[in-house]
Amino acid sequence: MPFPIHRMRRLRRTETLRRMVRETRLSVDNLVMPLFVCPGEGVTQPISSMPGNFRFSIDRLVEECREIAGLGIPAVILFGIPEHKNPHGEEGYEEDGIVQLAVRAVKETLPDLVVITDVCLCEYTDHGHCGVLRGEDVANDLTIELLGRMALTHAHAGADIVAPSDMMDGRVARIRQALDEGGYDQVPIMSYAAKFASAYYGPFREAADSAPSFGDRRSYQMDPPNADEAMREIALDIDEGADIVMVKPALAYLDIIHRAASSFATPIAAYNVSGEYSMVKAAAEKGWIDGERVMMETLTAIRRAGAEIILTYHAKEAARLLGG
Ligand code: PBG
Ligand code: ZN
Repeated sequence: MPFPIHRMRRLRRTETLRRMVRETRLSVDNLVMPLFVCPGEGVTQPISSMPGNFRFSIDRLVEECREIAGLGIPAVILFGIPEHKNPHGEEGYEEDGIVQLAVRAVKETLPDLVVITDVCLCEYTDHGHCGVLRGEDVANDLTIELLGRMALTHAHAGADIVAPSDMMDGRVARIRQALDEGGYDQVPIMSYAAKFASAYYGPFREAADSAPSFGDRRSYQMDPPNADEAMREIALDIDEGADIVMVKPALAYLDIIHRAASSFATPIAAYNVSGEYSMVKAAAEKGWIDGERVMMETLTAIRRAGAEIILTYHAKEAARLLGG
């Protein structure tokens, strides 16, 4: 006998009551801030499609990381913009590549900040694809060799976690092997396990100058309608040795996050990607939505779906609101 015995509004009456029965808590501990590092000195270059985000030279990056750590954010993920791009993306796996140098500088100054590195070739190749080409196709097995090398140089520089985002088959196993052989059996892999071929990556590709020069990424990133296949991708990555698995993007894929969290005991990460961020910023700028509230509602939804780790360009703003 529901009404009038049950009145759902009783526990919604005051903020204190609502606080007591709140089921999902977003904490600064859940947040990871993505950062773009570029060559030069004294560079803080705004990314026009992502207000509040910048490309930083290493010296400025270290300062930014100091502020991020000061807000209580546990981790950053670094993306590199190299001096030169070429067909094989060589600057991506050199010991003194941009990300490798950046990791050294950040870890030297802020040893407790967790530094994650994105492992992919698209920021370093002149054609913008996530691997090396054979004809117009990305050559899977050649690419995972290079990704193994890249991950090893990141670990050698001091990366705390490596995060392959390429979606080649077998890359997690190859990277695990390269790390273990190099003496880095304690460096975890956070794999972009269910990464979809999404239009929401647009602003990132401007930021990293990594849009493919021909074709698209649909032969390696997942087809957006597929959920069972996402579970298979995640299971394979865990079998290959992934320590954390990621779903990307987040908002249009909350069902995938939820299924992953209920199917696998591995920690789940979700990437609240560039396009998701830019849409909120653009609508807020126009005065059409309350940007802060939409941000917190979005991050809480990603958390509620089951992600422990949220990579988000909102991390600093959210940390401030969370009292960091
Ligand atoms: C590189 C990579 C991309 C993103 C993270 N790593 C771009 C892509 O796959 O095109 C997207 C992040 C974002 O949109 O915020 N493979
Ligand atoms: Zn890529």
